[in-house]
Amino acid sequence: MKAGVFDSGVGGLTVLKSILNANMFDEIIYYGDTARVPYGVKDKQTIINFSLEALDFFAPHHIDILIIACNTASAYALEEMKEKSPIPVVGVIEPGIQAVKNKITDKDASILVIATKATISSKMYQDKLHACGYTQIQSLATGLFVPIVEEGIKDGEILEATMRYYFSSVSKPPEAIILGCTHFPLIAPAIDVFFKHKSTLIHSGNAIVDYLQKNYGIAQKQIKKQAKLSFYASSNVSSLKETAQKWLSYL
Ligand code: DGL
Repeated sequence: MKAGVFDSGVGGLTVLKSILNANMFDEIIYYGDTARVPYGVKDKQTIINFSLEALDFFAPHHIDILIIACNTASAYALEEMKEKSPIPVVGVIEPGIQAVKNKITDKDASILVIATKATISSKMYQDKLHACGYTQIQSLATGLFVPIVEEGIKDGEILEATMRYYFSSVSKPPEAIILGCTHFPLIAPAIDVFFKHKSTLIHSGNAIVDYLQKNYGIAQKQIKKQAKLSFYASSNVSSLKETAQKWLSYL
């Protein structure tokens, strides 16, 4: 089975890594729209237009399923992409919600959603959590984490100051934190320490693996065989490949 993984840039590598670890596909085509990243500060229609163009990119690759690794694209463009695509298109938001449901049974538990400005403005996570009955939801746009991660910073002063800045309104460690942006799994250890190891962190990559298994019957293969991987980008593919080499080895 051949999958496509789409992201606004390099961040989707965190989701790719989970999918690779789960050993689900024979072949994976990764496409990052690096020429136009970040999506997280753009308006709805622009995000939809760019995401629909990604469908055109994948068309000649004859994939069986398209995974939208990008939370921002998932929040705004999933429905449009599904409508226009002849193959299944799966975003990361619903899998994240399912992961919360599996892990957090107390509907009054505090849940923090962190994501880009656009994802938070879409209210997609918040509305879906409310619809599942959760009552204590806090959401924060924490976009500065994106360039911090891309700079290769995973701990230290800059990250700690940024966490203090963003999390000053979070009075106590939440029961669960949705890492609602592709980049955030890379700073999950620092976030975990910040909240004194008291929060359950929800990672889109792991969530989508479970979701693909349960909802699309895509099983993890018993015989471990590395999927054939190809990387494409709308600009500077060599930089994407370099980042992939680094991130896929330590994620
Ligand atoms: N991939 C985006 C997301 O998960 C983060 C980077 C961007 O803003 O494009 O929301």
